Amino acid sequence: MTATLATAPPLSKSLADRALSASGTLWFLTAAAGQWMFVLYISSFYGGAAVQGNFEKWNDVLVGGYVAGGTLGNIILAGHLLLAVTITAGGTLQLIPQIRARALPFHRWNGRVYILTALVISLFGLYMVWTRGTAGGESLRIGISLNGILILVCAVLAWRYALARDIATHRRWALRTFMLVSGVWFFRVGLMLWILANHGPVGIGRDFDGPFVRFWSFGCYLVPLIVLELYLRSQERGSATDKFAAAAALVVLTAAMAVGILGAAMGMWLPRVMPA
Ligand code: HEM
Repeated sequence: MTATLATAPPLSKSLADRALSASGTLWFLTAAAGQWMFVLYISSFYGGAAVQGNFEKWNDVLVGGYVAGGTLGNIILAGHLLLAVTITAGGTLQLIPQIRARALPFHRWNGRVYILTALVISLFGLYMVWTRGTAGGESLRIGISLNGILILVCAVLAWRYALARDIATHRRWALRTFMLVSGVWFFRVGLMLWILANHGPVGIGRDFDGPFVRFWSFGCYLVPLIVLELYLRSQERGSATDKFAAAAALVVLTAAMAVGILGAAMGMWLPRVMPA
């Protein structure tokens, strides 16, 4: 009996662990729902136009997009868009613990595809930014380029630790890769949250180079990375109070993210899936 009490975790600690884990699950389910809406948009808008052979339609959204006669750049753009579907859908499946537990071979194969896709989509993206351009100014170009470089680094580290069977370290680098890969998605969700919160495009700028855009060009992946580090720290060595505080903060952030997802879905994605 004494031995059982000595080894059992304190009640508040296990409750705190459960609260933290539940907040992580809530965050993931909300993000996954939003990422699947992004997948629906990319496949239906870009895929639909491609099936009709109407590649010019891509430029309804893109700034440096399809260029008639620019074969290499167009192939790279098409590859980038196709891989965007694969990586966004595959990433959400990769983080489902039940799949890891019950279908490990699937997790391993999907992981290999995910990491390879992360490398190729980032290299394609870097090529596109510096040859065709994007909306906005230098900050957006430098911000997304740094995002691409960090994806390359983290994806390689996640792979290395998986090969070394150091699963705890692999998990940390894989989660960092997921946050970085989700940077372009967070960009859209955060942008719409900001616009909704301010009742208009405050700080966006006429050339899409206003103070908020400059900040969010880097913040869209650095802020999620910082939140992830705080989550992992409190999960690994936080006190019960730290864990309850982290869980509460994550619930608030998830609510804000849900508003941004709804904004992006209603304002950017669904109108192009179901044009009026
Ligand atoms: C890794 C995850 C990524 C995903 C899922 C992704 C997805 C997309 C999508 C869906 C578009 C079409 C724009 C839209 O309809 O909203 C796009 C365009 C683009 N992406 Fe990515 N992307 C990723 C990473 C990157 C990176 C790392 C870079 C640069 C280093 C990059 C550079 C670009 C560029 C230059 C465009 C064209 C923009 C334009 O012409 O207006 N992407 N991407």
